[in-house]
Amino acid sequence: MDSFFITTPIYYVNAKPHLGHAYTTILADAMNRFHRLLGEETYFLTGTDEHGDKIVQAAEKNDQTPREYVDSISKMFSDLWPDLQIDNSDFIRTTQERHIACVQKVLQKVYDSGDIYFGEYGGHYCFGCERFYTEKELVDGKCPQHETKPEYIAEKNYFFKMSKYQDWLIGHINSNPDFIRPERYRNEVLSLLKSGALEDLCISRPKSRLEWGIELPFDSDYVTYVWFDALINYITALEYPEGDKFKKFWPGANHIVAKDILKPHAVFWPTMLKAAGIEPYQHLNVHGYWLVKDTKMSKSLGNVVEPLEMAKKYGINAFRYFLMREMVFGSDASFSEEALVGRLNADLANDLGNLFSRSLSMTHKYFEGKVPAPGEDGEEDNDIKKIGRDSMATFQQEFLDARFSRGLESLWNLVRGLNKYIDSTQPWTLYKEEKTSRLGTVLYVLLENMRKIAVHLWPIMPEASEKMLEQLGIEFCCDKVNLAGEKDVWGLLEPGTELAKSSNLFPRVDLPAAEEKPKKEKAKAGKFDKKAEKKEDSDGMAEFTDFQKIDMRVGTVLSVAKHPDADKLLLVKVDIGEDEPRQVVAGLAEFFKPEQLEGRQVVVVANLKPRKLRGEVSQGMILAVRDGDKMELMTAGSGVTNGCKVS
Ligand code: MSP
Repeated sequence: MDSFFITTPIYYVNAKPHLGHAYTTILADAMNRFHRLLGEETYFLTGTDEHGDKIVQAAEKNDQTPREYVDSISKMFSDLWPDLQIDNSDFIRTTQERHIACVQKVLQKVYDSGDIYFGEYGGHYCFGCERFYTEKELVDGKCPQHETKPEYIAEKNYFFKMSKYQDWLIGHINSNPDFIRPERYRNEVLSLLKSGALEDLCISRPKSRLEWGIELPFDSDYVTYVWFDALINYITALEYPEGDKFKKFWPGANHIVAKDILKPHAVFWPTMLKAAGIEPYQHLNVHGYWLVKDTKMSKSLGNVVEPLEMAKKYGINAFRYFLMREMVFGSDASFSEEALVGRLNADLANDLGNLFSRSLSMTHKYFEGKVPAPGEDGEEDNDIKKIGRDSMATFQQEFLDARFSRGLESLWNLVRGLNKYIDSTQPWTLYKEEKTSRLGTVLYVLLENMRKIAVHLWPIMPEASEKMLEQLGIEFCCDKVNLAGEKDVWGLLEPGTELAKSSNLFPRVDLPAAEEKPKKEKAKAGKFDKKAEKKEDSDGMAEFTDFQKIDMRVGTVLSVAKHPDADKLLLVKVDIGEDEPRQVVAGLAEFFKPEQLEGRQVVVVANLKPRKLRGEVSQGMILAVRDGDKMELMTAGSGVTNGCKVS
């Protein structure tokens, strides 16, 4: 029996799960279910990545120990997945004993084979990515992911001889065209590999700088670099090296990642595997980013989409369908409730929902709710059956080739085709004219195709699919399905089977209107506000609670640029201890040259609503004191950790 192993990235526990994490994990779940329906034995792994600088900083910010902190956030991930109907086989955490032991085993093996050496290195370190960047990889001197200036760090460390495997990796990618897919990412990796000598990979951090990691088995003064640690999770879970799971599932290994972590998966990981004497994985499936109104999701912009909220509002199956249908695999996609509601109404309520409710109610009206026996097929029936075979064959091939939205598009050719088939065969006329045998054939063609559609949709909408099948009088059992055979067999739905009376799985929804207060109330509120404002103005005093609302944080200026459209304004990128730096538009250009600000600590009002100043978003305000024609920046004196609160 073929085996299939599917993984998601293990997510950092420095932030709560959001739409991006949900998408990758739903996709992995769908691929896993798809392969189960093909009769393969499958293993689906997800989990959390819990070591490294980022986690320590996030724990400190939360006044927790790293252990307390990782436990609480990891639980948010593992608790969320069942609510999204994600059925993973395992949930791995890099702080688990099984993982620590496996990482040390791999390290020792690679060390013993001579591919790890001790040396000194200076490089540009991005704390956001937890990796060194080469000069060439930086864009305008900044990390391309975080757009921040990395810190130059020089220290003694252990290195993995990654460079040794450069030619092997190029050869492997060339001779396995779908090793990295879609093609654009394969090309990106090839051009990176061919653009110059691959550097060796620094795989340790001195404990003097970071303790929260896995100790090197050959030097207790060092912990393992978080990426070398994290990637190994994929084989820890299979009980490498001796485990039966490893033998069974590793040959069918498929990873899913987004484009942000292409290099560690496409370059570090295969070379690590090669050095450890392990076969490369089968496919690296790389998807794009979910954007919100064409902007990256970020906490500071307040546009992070909460998956559970969407699932509760629109139904988890509709949400899963939307994500799988909307994102063209490999490209970025834009999330909006408008788009979700549009697809829900058009594809699910109109096309699929109507097909089910029309067909069920006609079977009740004309055949007392029982599947009729079909008579001889006519031309129209053969045509729609062919559309069905083609659309299912394409669906399956597209899913195997990681083109999921195209797969669904093709399945909808059948859904829409069947609605048209109802319109053209006019079962109501056949009934009137008492053409019972023909009517039986038409309804049978509809119902049997609906069964096939429901089975094909199980990977994407598990619960809805099972309900559709239930309405067709079938109890779903995934081990009994032979998906590959479905496109060719005909007639599994038994005549005489009793059907549900109606189906309303996907009711139409309206986009929630923006909540507006009635005009009168608004006017009243306005008056009241003005009065209150006046009162405050009159004595010049603010309530203590008003002051408490202001969240001021210390941050370091990472970079400064001139505002393209305003002489007095500067675009200041400040690190206030969040995942990403903020951009603050500040009226400081008259007083400071950009280089006079870079590297300085400032105080930022962090909870001002973002606003645009001459077309540039400002996410806060830098506090400064004006004295005549001089300007002094507010600061925390001798230097404190970024993100500290001013109180
Ligand atoms: N811990 C590393 C991965 C180690 S794997 C050995 C990491 N974690 S992460 O929490 O930052 O997760 C990154 C992944 O989350 C992306 O590769 C993608 O799967 C998912 N996404 C996070 N944001 C996303 C979007 N906005 N859009 C789509 N998916 C994205 O990197």
